[in-house]
Amino acid sequence: MSAAGAVVVGRRAPVQVAIVGAGFIGAVHARSARLAGARIVGVTASTPERSEEAAGRLGAVRAYDVAEELVTAPEVDVVHLCTPNHLHAPLALAALAAGKHVVCEKPLAVDAVQAAELGTAAAASGRVATVPFVYRYHPMVLEARARVAAGELGAVRLVHGGYLQDWLSTPEDDSWRVDPELGGASRAFADIGSHWCDLAEFITGDRIAAVCAQSATVVPERAQRAGARPFQGGGDAAERRPVSTEDLVVMLFRTEGGVLGTMLVSQVSPGRKNHLHIEVGCELASVRFEQERPETLWLGRRERTEELWRDPAHLSPSAARHAIVPVGHPQGYLECFDAFVADTYAAIGGADPDGLPRFAAGVRQAHVTAAVLVSAERGEWVDV
Ligand SMILES: NC(=O)c1ccc[n+]([C@@H]2O[C@H](COP(=O)([O-])OP(=O)(O)OC[C@H]3O[C@@H](n4cnc5c(N)ncnc54)[C@H](O)[C@@H]3O)[C@@H](O)[C@H]2O)c1
Repeated sequence: MSAAGAVVVGRRAPVQVAIVGAGFIGAVHARSARLAGARIVGVTASTPERSEEAAGRLGAVRAYDVAEELVTAPEVDVVHLCTPNHLHAPLALAALAAGKHVVCEKPLAVDAVQAAELGTAAAASGRVATVPFVYRYHPMVLEARARVAAGELGAVRLVHGGYLQDWLSTPEDDSWRVDPELGGASRAFADIGSHWCDLAEFITGDRIAAVCAQSATVVPERAQRAGARPFQGGGDAAERRPVSTEDLVVMLFRTEGGVLGTMLVSQVSPGRKNHLHIEVGCELASVRFEQERPETLWLGRRERTEELWRDPAHLSPSAARHAIVPVGHPQGYLECFDAFVADTYAAIGGADPDGLPRFAAGVRQAHVTAAVLVSAERGEWVDV
Protein backbone atom coordinates (compact mmCIF):
# COMPACT_ATOMS: atom_id res chain seq x y z
CA MET A 1 0.00 0.00 0.00
CA SER A 2 1.07 3.57 -0.54
CA ALA A 3 3.29 5.13 2.09
CA ALA A 4 1.12 8.24 1.85
CA GLY A 5 -1.86 6.29 3.24
CA ALA A 6 -3.51 7.26 6.51
CA VAL A 7 -2.13 5.38 9.51
CA VAL A 8 -4.62 3.19 11.33
CA VAL A 9 -3.26 1.91 14.64
CA GLY A 10 -3.36 -1.87 14.96
CA ARG A 11 -4.61 -2.44 11.39
CA ARG A 12 -3.24 -2.23 7.88
CA ALA A 13 -3.41 1.22 6.31
CA PRO A 14 -6.50 1.59 4.15
CA VAL A 15 -6.22 0.94 0.44
CA GLN A 16 -5.96 4.27 -1.39
CA VAL A 17 -8.41 4.37 -4.25
CA ALA A 18 -9.01 6.51 -7.35
CA ILE A 19 -12.42 6.58 -9.03
CA VAL A 20 -12.50 7.66 -12.67
CA GLY A 21 -16.03 8.31 -13.94
CA ALA A 22 -18.70 9.22 -11.44
CA GLY A 23 -21.98 8.24 -13.06
CA PHE A 24 -24.18 5.25 -12.19
CA ILE A 25 -21.44 2.71 -11.63
CA GLY A 26 -18.77 5.09 -10.31
CA ALA A 27 -20.97 5.77 -7.29
CA VAL A 28 -21.48 2.02 -6.79
CA HIS A 29 -17.69 1.42 -6.88
CA ALA A 30 -17.10 4.27 -4.42
CA ARG A 31 -19.67 2.87 -2.00
CA SER A 32 -18.22 -0.65 -2.14
CA ALA A 33 -14.67 0.69 -1.79
CA ARG A 34 -15.60 2.64 1.34
CA LEU A 35 -17.37 -0.41 2.81
CA ALA A 36 -14.21 -2.45 2.20
CA GLY A 37 -12.31 0.10 4.28
CA ALA A 38 -10.65 1.98 1.42
CA ARG A 39 -9.93 5.69 1.34
CA ILE A 40 -11.04 7.46 -1.84
CA VAL A 41 -8.17 9.82 -2.53
CA GLY A 42 -9.29 11.18 -5.88
CA VAL A 43 -12.14 11.36 -8.35
CA THR A 44 -12.31 12.53 -11.97
CA ALA A 45 -15.51 13.02 -13.96
CA SER A 46 -15.96 14.49 -17.44
CA THR A 47 -15.28 18.16 -16.55
CA PRO A 48 -13.49 19.92 -13.66
CA GLU A 49 -16.84 21.15 -12.35
CA ARG A 50 -18.32 17.65 -12.39
CA SER A 51 -15.17 16.24 -10.80
CA GLU A 52 -15.50 18.75 -7.95
CA GLU A 53 -19.17 17.88 -7.45
CA ALA A 54 -18.40 14.14 -7.62
CA ALA A 55 -15.58 14.40 -5.05
CA GLY A 56 -18.07 15.80 -2.54
CA ARG A 57 -20.80 13.30 -3.44
CA LEU A 58 -18.52 10.24 -3.31
CA GLY A 59 -16.58 11.34 -0.22
CA ALA A 60 -13.21 11.72 -1.98
CA VAL A 61 -10.28 13.63 -0.55
CA ARG A 62 -10.04 15.75 -3.70
CA ALA A 63 -11.04 16.14 -7.33
CA TYR A 64 -8.55 15.74 -10.17
CA ASP A 65 -9.21 17.62 -13.42
CA VAL A 66 -7.34 15.13 -15.61
CA ALA A 67 -7.89 11.37 -15.44
CA GLU A 68 -4.31 10.57 -16.58
CA GLU A 69 -2.96 12.54 -13.61
CA LEU A 70 -5.21 10.70 -11.16
CA VAL A 71 -4.48 7.17 -12.41
CA THR A 72 -0.72 7.72 -12.06
CA ALA A 73 -0.79 9.77 -8.82
CA PRO A 74 1.72 8.48 -6.22
CA GLU A 75 -0.86 8.25 -3.42
CA VAL A 76 -3.10 5.88 -5.42
CA ASP A 77 -2.94 2.09 -4.91
CA VAL A 78 -6.00 0.99 -6.89
CA VAL A 79 -7.63 2.65 -9.89
CA HIS A 80 -11.34 2.01 -10.51
CA LEU A 81 -12.24 2.78 -14.15
CA CYS A 82 -15.94 3.63 -14.44
CA THR A 83 -15.96 5.71 -17.62
CA PRO A 84 -17.51 5.13 -21.03
CA ASN A 85 -15.85 2.15 -22.70
CA HIS A 86 -13.43 3.94 -25.07
CA LEU A 87 -11.46 5.31 -22.09
CA HIS A 88 -10.95 1.93 -20.39
CA ALA A 89 -7.91 0.77 -22.38
CA PRO A 90 -5.77 3.94 -22.39
CA LEU A 91 -6.41 4.62 -18.71
CA ALA A 92 -5.91 0.99 -17.64
CA LEU A 93 -2.61 0.82 -19.55
CA ALA A 94 -1.43 4.07 -17.95
CA ALA A 95 -2.42 2.86 -14.49
CA LEU A 96 -0.74 -0.55 -14.87
CA ALA A 97 2.42 1.11 -16.23
CA ALA A 98 2.45 3.29 -13.09
CA GLY A 99 2.27 0.14 -10.93
CA LYS A 100 -1.37 0.47 -9.88
CA HIS A 101 -3.86 -2.29 -9.31
CA VAL A 102 -6.86 -1.82 -11.62
CA VAL A 103 -10.56 -2.52 -11.47
CA CYS A 104 -11.83 -1.85 -14.99
CA GLU A 105 -15.46 -1.92 -15.96
CA LYS A 106 -16.83 -4.23 -18.62
CA PRO A 107 -16.59 -4.36 -21.54
CA LEU A 108 -12.86 -4.23 -20.87
CA ALA A 109 -12.26 -2.38 -24.14
CA VAL A 110 -14.01 -1.40 -27.35
CA ASP A 111 -12.69 -4.43 -29.25
CA ALA A 112 -10.93 -7.75 -28.72
CA VAL A 113 -7.51 -6.51 -29.87
CA GLN A 114 -7.50 -3.75 -27.27
CA ALA A 115 -8.84 -6.10 -24.62
CA ALA A 116 -6.08 -8.63 -25.35
CA GLU A 117 -3.49 -5.86 -25.02
CA LEU A 118 -4.91 -5.09 -21.59
CA GLY A 119 -4.83 -8.75 -20.59
CA THR A 120 -1.16 -8.99 -21.59
CA ALA A 121 -0.24 -5.77 -19.78
CA ALA A 122 -2.04 -6.89 -16.63
CA ALA A 123 -0.30 -10.28 -16.63
CA ALA A 124 3.12 -8.68 -17.18
CA SER A 125 2.53 -6.10 -14.43
CA GLY A 126 2.02 -8.60 -11.64
CA ARG A 127 -0.70 -6.30 -10.31
CA VAL A 128 -4.25 -7.33 -9.49
CA ALA A 129 -6.55 -6.44 -12.40
CA THR A 130 -10.24 -7.31 -12.15
CA VAL A 131 -13.44 -6.74 -14.12
CA PRO A 132 -16.83 -6.43 -12.38
CA PHE A 133 -18.73 -9.45 -13.67
CA VAL A 134 -20.50 -9.09 -10.35
CA TYR A 135 -23.47 -11.38 -11.00
CA ARG A 136 -21.04 -14.18 -10.13
CA TYR A 137 -21.37 -13.07 -6.51
CA HIS A 138 -25.08 -13.83 -6.07
CA PRO A 139 -25.21 -16.63 -3.48
CA MET A 140 -27.76 -18.54 -5.58
CA VAL A 141 -25.49 -18.33 -8.64
CA LEU A 142 -22.69 -19.74 -6.51
CA GLU A 143 -25.07 -22.45 -5.30
CA ALA A 144 -25.91 -23.42 -8.89
CA ARG A 145 -22.21 -23.50 -9.75
CA ALA A 146 -21.37 -25.62 -6.71
CA ARG A 147 -24.10 -28.15 -7.49
CA VAL A 148 -23.05 -28.46 -11.12
CA ALA A 149 -19.40 -28.85 -10.12
CA ALA A 150 -20.24 -31.51 -7.52
CA GLY A 151 -21.97 -33.56 -10.22
CA GLU A 152 -25.15 -33.53 -8.15
CA LEU A 153 -27.30 -32.57 -11.17
CA GLY A 154 -25.61 -34.90 -13.63
CA ALA A 155 -23.94 -33.83 -16.85
CA VAL A 156 -24.93 -30.49 -18.38
CA ARG A 157 -27.10 -30.98 -21.48
CA LEU A 158 -28.50 -27.56 -22.39
CA VAL A 159 -27.93 -23.93 -21.40
CA HIS A 160 -30.39 -21.16 -22.21
CA GLY A 161 -31.62 -17.77 -21.13
CA GLY A 162 -31.05 -14.13 -21.87
CA TYR A 163 -30.61 -10.62 -20.67
CA LEU A 164 -33.42 -8.20 -21.52
CA GLN A 165 -33.81 -4.51 -20.67
CA ASP A 166 -36.15 -1.73 -21.85
CA TRP A 167 -34.32 1.50 -21.15
CA LEU A 168 -33.43 2.07 -24.85
CA SER A 169 -36.87 1.07 -26.21
CA THR A 170 -37.89 4.33 -27.86
CA PRO A 171 -36.24 6.75 -30.33
CA GLU A 172 -36.16 9.30 -27.49
CA ASP A 173 -33.83 7.11 -25.41
CA ASP A 174 -30.13 7.83 -25.73
CA SER A 175 -26.82 7.03 -24.07
CA TRP A 176 -23.13 7.33 -24.95
CA ARG A 177 -23.38 3.52 -25.37
CA VAL A 178 -25.23 4.05 -28.69
CA ASP A 179 -22.17 5.74 -30.24
CA PRO A 180 -19.61 3.17 -31.50
CA GLU A 181 -16.78 5.67 -30.96
CA LEU A 182 -17.53 5.71 -27.23
CA GLY A 183 -19.05 2.28 -26.63
CA GLY A 184 -17.52 0.06 -29.32
CA ALA A 185 -18.97 -1.63 -32.41
CA SER A 186 -21.20 -3.88 -30.29
CA ARG A 187 -23.64 -2.22 -27.91
CA ALA A 188 -26.28 -4.54 -26.41
CA PHE A 189 -24.11 -7.65 -26.57
CA ALA A 190 -20.90 -6.07 -25.24
CA ASP A 191 -22.85 -4.20 -22.58
CA ILE A 192 -25.04 -6.96 -21.14
CA GLY A 193 -24.55 -10.09 -23.28
CA SER A 194 -21.00 -10.20 -21.91
CA HIS A 195 -22.42 -10.50 -18.37
CA TRP A 196 -24.66 -13.40 -19.43
CA CYS A 197 -21.91 -15.32 -21.22
CA ASP A 198 -19.55 -14.84 -18.30
CA LEU A 199 -22.22 -16.18 -15.98
CA ALA A 200 -22.98 -19.18 -18.21
CA GLU A 201 -19.30 -20.10 -18.32
CA PHE A 202 -18.91 -19.47 -14.59
CA ILE A 203 -21.84 -21.70 -13.60
CA THR A 204 -21.14 -24.55 -16.00
CA GLY A 205 -17.32 -24.47 -15.92
CA ASP A 206 -17.52 -24.91 -19.70
CA ARG A 207 -16.65 -22.32 -22.35
CA ILE A 208 -18.52 -21.06 -25.38
CA ALA A 209 -16.62 -22.44 -28.37
CA ALA A 210 -18.71 -21.26 -31.33
CA VAL A 211 -21.63 -18.93 -31.92
CA CYS A 212 -24.29 -18.42 -34.57
CA ALA A 213 -25.87 -14.99 -34.06
CA GLN A 214 -28.21 -12.52 -35.68
CA SER A 215 -28.55 -8.93 -34.53
CA ALA A 216 -31.00 -6.14 -35.22
CA THR A 217 -31.14 -2.40 -34.81
CA VAL A 218 -34.88 -1.92 -34.41
CA VAL A 219 -34.63 1.76 -33.48
CA PRO A 220 -32.70 3.01 -36.51
CA GLU A 221 -32.64 6.67 -35.47
CA ARG A 222 -32.34 8.12 -31.99
CA ALA A 223 -32.37 11.47 -30.29
CA GLN A 224 -28.85 12.58 -29.46
CA ARG A 225 -29.15 13.95 -25.95
CA ALA A 226 -26.20 15.52 -24.19
CA GLY A 227 -26.26 14.39 -20.58
CA ALA A 228 -28.62 11.44 -21.07
CA ARG A 229 -28.23 9.12 -18.06
CA PRO A 230 -28.21 5.35 -18.36
CA PHE A 231 -31.49 3.71 -17.37
CA GLN A 232 -33.04 7.14 -16.72
CA GLY A 233 -33.01 9.03 -19.99
CA GLY A 234 -33.34 12.79 -19.70
CA GLY A 235 -30.72 15.09 -21.16
CA ASP A 236 -31.09 18.15 -23.36
CA ALA A 237 -33.41 18.47 -26.33
CA ALA A 238 -31.90 16.66 -29.19
CA GLU A 239 -31.02 16.22 -32.83
CA ARG A 240 -31.63 12.86 -34.53
CA ARG A 241 -28.81 10.54 -35.48
CA PRO A 242 -28.66 7.20 -37.28
CA VAL A 243 -27.84 4.20 -35.08
CA SER A 244 -25.28 1.58 -36.14
CA THR A 245 -24.98 -0.45 -32.93
CA GLU A 246 -27.33 -3.38 -32.27
CA ASP A 247 -30.42 -3.18 -30.04
CA LEU A 248 -30.80 -6.95 -29.79
CA VAL A 249 -29.03 -10.23 -30.49
CA VAL A 250 -30.37 -13.75 -30.92
CA MET A 251 -27.66 -16.35 -30.45
CA LEU A 252 -27.14 -20.10 -30.69
CA PHE A 253 -23.93 -21.46 -29.23
CA ARG A 254 -21.93 -24.63 -28.70
CA THR A 255 -19.52 -25.14 -25.82
CA GLU A 256 -16.10 -26.78 -25.75
CA GLY A 257 -17.80 -29.65 -23.90
CA GLY A 258 -20.25 -30.08 -26.80
CA VAL A 259 -23.30 -28.61 -25.01
CA LEU A 260 -25.77 -26.58 -27.07
CA GLY A 261 -27.38 -23.36 -25.91
CA THR A 262 -29.44 -20.32 -26.85
CA MET A 263 -29.63 -16.80 -25.53
CA LEU A 264 -31.34 -13.48 -26.23
CA VAL A 265 -29.99 -10.02 -25.52
CA SER A 266 -32.13 -6.90 -25.83
CA GLN A 267 -32.20 -3.33 -24.60
CA VAL A 268 -35.55 -2.67 -26.30
CA SER A 269 -37.96 -5.09 -24.55
CA PRO A 270 -40.72 -3.05 -22.83
CA GLY A 271 -41.31 -4.12 -19.25
CA ARG A 272 -38.04 -5.96 -18.90
CA LYS A 273 -35.86 -3.90 -16.58
CA ASN A 274 -32.81 -6.02 -15.88
CA HIS A 275 -34.07 -9.47 -16.78
CA LEU A 276 -30.94 -11.60 -16.66
CA HIS A 277 -32.05 -15.22 -16.50
CA ILE A 278 -30.19 -18.45 -17.04
CA GLU A 279 -31.24 -22.08 -16.98
CA VAL A 280 -28.84 -24.99 -17.00
CA GLY A 281 -30.49 -28.27 -17.90
CA CYS A 282 -28.61 -31.31 -16.64
CA GLU A 283 -29.19 -35.05 -16.74
CA LEU A 284 -30.94 -35.30 -13.35
CA ALA A 285 -32.15 -31.76 -12.70
CA SER A 286 -32.34 -28.24 -14.09
CA VAL A 287 -31.42 -25.07 -12.24
CA ARG A 288 -32.67 -21.59 -13.08
CA PHE A 289 -31.51 -18.23 -11.73
CA GLU A 290 -33.31 -14.93 -12.32
CA GLN A 291 -31.41 -11.79 -11.39
CA GLU A 292 -34.56 -9.86 -10.47
CA ARG A 293 -35.47 -12.59 -7.95
CA PRO A 294 -31.99 -13.34 -6.66
CA GLU A 295 -32.99 -14.82 -3.32
CA THR A 296 -34.07 -18.11 -4.85
CA LEU A 297 -32.85 -20.78 -7.25
CA TRP A 298 -35.35 -22.93 -9.11
CA LEU A 299 -34.43 -26.60 -9.01
CA GLY A 300 -36.46 -28.83 -11.28
CA ARG A 301 -36.45 -32.62 -11.21
CA ARG A 302 -38.64 -35.02 -13.11
CA GLU A 303 -40.53 -36.02 -9.95
CA ARG A 304 -40.76 -32.60 -8.31
CA THR A 305 -39.66 -28.98 -8.56
CA GLU A 306 -38.64 -26.73 -5.71
CA GLU A 307 -37.42 -23.25 -5.00
CA LEU A 308 -34.26 -23.15 -2.92
CA TRP A 309 -33.97 -20.09 -0.69
CA ARG A 310 -30.77 -18.30 0.23
CA ASP A 311 -30.56 -19.96 3.64
CA PRO A 312 -26.89 -20.31 4.61
CA ALA A 313 -27.70 -23.40 6.67
CA HIS A 314 -28.57 -25.25 3.46
CA LEU A 315 -26.10 -23.67 1.03
CA SER A 316 -22.74 -24.85 -0.24
CA PRO A 317 -19.80 -23.16 1.53
CA SER A 318 -18.95 -20.99 -1.50
CA ALA A 319 -22.52 -19.62 -1.56
CA ALA A 320 -22.93 -19.35 2.21
CA ARG A 321 -19.77 -17.20 2.33
CA HIS A 322 -21.73 -14.45 0.58
CA ALA A 323 -24.96 -14.66 2.55
CA ILE A 324 -24.67 -11.36 4.44
CA VAL A 325 -28.07 -11.20 6.14
CA PRO A 326 -30.44 -14.00 7.20
CA VAL A 327 -32.71 -15.54 4.57
CA GLY A 328 -35.89 -13.49 4.03
CA HIS A 329 -33.99 -10.20 4.25
CA PRO A 330 -33.36 -9.60 0.55
CA GLN A 331 -29.86 -8.90 -0.64
CA GLY A 332 -28.92 -8.25 -4.23
CA TYR A 333 -26.81 -6.33 -6.71
CA LEU A 334 -25.08 -3.97 -4.27
CA GLU A 335 -23.98 -6.81 -2.02
CA CYS A 336 -22.54 -8.56 -5.08
CA PHE A 337 -20.56 -5.44 -5.86
CA ASP A 338 -19.36 -5.15 -2.27
CA ALA A 339 -18.17 -8.77 -2.30
CA PHE A 340 -16.41 -8.31 -5.64
CA VAL A 341 -14.54 -5.20 -4.46
CA ALA A 342 -13.67 -6.82 -1.12
CA ASP A 343 -12.29 -9.87 -2.96
CA THR A 344 -10.27 -7.60 -5.27
CA TYR A 345 -8.69 -5.89 -2.27
CA ALA A 346 -8.11 -9.28 -0.61
CA ALA A 347 -6.25 -10.36 -3.76
CA ILE A 348 -4.13 -7.21 -3.49
CA GLY A 349 -3.33 -8.34 0.04
CA GLY A 350 -2.10 -11.69 -1.32
CA ALA A 351 -5.25 -13.85 -1.23
CA ASP A 352 -6.56 -15.79 -4.23
CA PRO A 353 -10.36 -15.60 -3.86
CA ASP A 354 -12.25 -18.30 -5.71
CA GLY A 355 -14.18 -16.96 -8.69
CA LEU A 356 -12.69 -13.46 -8.71
CA PRO A 357 -13.18 -12.19 -12.28
CA ARG A 358 -9.77 -11.01 -13.44
CA PHE A 359 -8.86 -9.31 -16.73
CA ALA A 360 -8.65 -12.71 -18.44
CA ALA A 361 -12.44 -12.99 -18.00
CA GLY A 362 -12.89 -9.58 -19.66
CA VAL A 363 -10.60 -10.57 -22.54
CA ARG A 364 -12.52 -13.79 -22.92
CA GLN A 365 -15.86 -11.99 -23.28
CA ALA A 366 -14.33 -9.51 -25.74
CA HIS A 367 -13.49 -12.52 -27.95
CA VAL A 368 -17.05 -13.89 -27.60
CA THR A 369 -18.42 -10.45 -28.57
CA ALA A 370 -16.10 -10.28 -31.59
CA ALA A 371 -17.29 -13.70 -32.74
CA VAL A 372 -20.93 -12.61 -32.36
CA LEU A 373 -20.33 -9.53 -34.52
CA VAL A 374 -18.66 -11.58 -37.28
CA SER A 375 -21.33 -14.27 -37.13
CA ALA A 376 -24.17 -11.73 -37.32
CA GLU A 377 -22.54 -10.07 -40.31
CA ARG A 378 -21.79 -13.26 -42.23
CA GLY A 379 -24.82 -15.26 -41.16
CA GLU A 380 -22.75 -18.31 -40.22
CA TRP A 381 -21.26 -20.17 -37.26
CA VAL A 382 -18.03 -18.57 -36.01
CA ASP A 383 -15.49 -20.08 -33.60
CA VAL A 384 -14.62 -18.00 -30.56
N1 LIG B 1 -20.49 -4.13 -13.95
C1 LIG B 1 -21.70 -3.66 -14.04
O1 LIG B 1 -22.66 -4.26 -13.55
C2 LIG B 1 -21.94 -2.34 -14.76
C3 LIG B 1 -23.15 -1.66 -14.62
C4 LIG B 1 -23.28 -0.41 -15.26
C5 LIG B 1 -22.25 0.09 -16.05
N2 LIG B 1 -21.09 -0.63 -16.19
C6 LIG B 1 -19.98 -0.10 -17.01
O2 LIG B 1 -19.47 1.06 -16.35
C7 LIG B 1 -19.04 2.03 -17.29
C8 LIG B 1 -19.76 3.35 -17.01
O3 LIG B 1 -21.16 3.15 -17.16
P1 LIG B 1 -22.23 4.04 -16.38
O4 LIG B 1 -23.53 3.34 -16.51
O5 LIG B 1 -21.74 4.39 -15.02
O6 LIG B 1 -22.24 5.35 -17.30
P2 LIG B 1 -22.56 6.85 -16.87
O7 LIG B 1 -22.84 7.58 -18.12
O8 LIG B 1 -23.57 6.86 -15.75
O9 LIG B 1 -21.20 7.35 -16.23
C9 LIG B 1 -20.04 7.54 -16.98
C10 LIG B 1 -19.22 8.60 -16.29
O10 LIG B 1 -17.98 8.78 -16.95
C11 LIG B 1 -17.66 10.14 -16.90
N3 LIG B 1 -16.68 10.51 -17.90
C12 LIG B 1 -16.86 10.74 -19.22
N4 LIG B 1 -15.68 11.10 -19.77
C13 LIG B 1 -14.76 11.11 -18.79
C14 LIG B 1 -13.38 11.41 -18.72
N5 LIG B 1 -12.70 11.80 -19.82
N6 LIG B 1 -12.73 11.32 -17.54
C15 LIG B 1 -13.40 10.95 -16.44
N7 LIG B 1 -14.71 10.66 -16.44
C16 LIG B 1 -15.39 10.73 -17.59
C17 LIG B 1 -18.99 10.85 -17.09
O11 LIG B 1 -18.96 12.14 -16.54
C18 LIG B 1 -19.93 9.97 -16.28
O12 LIG B 1 -20.01 10.42 -14.96
C19 LIG B 1 -19.32 1.42 -18.66
O13 LIG B 1 -18.15 0.83 -19.16
C20 LIG B 1 -20.38 0.36 -18.39
O14 LIG B 1 -20.36 -0.69 -19.31
C21 LIG B 1 -20.93 -1.83 -15.57
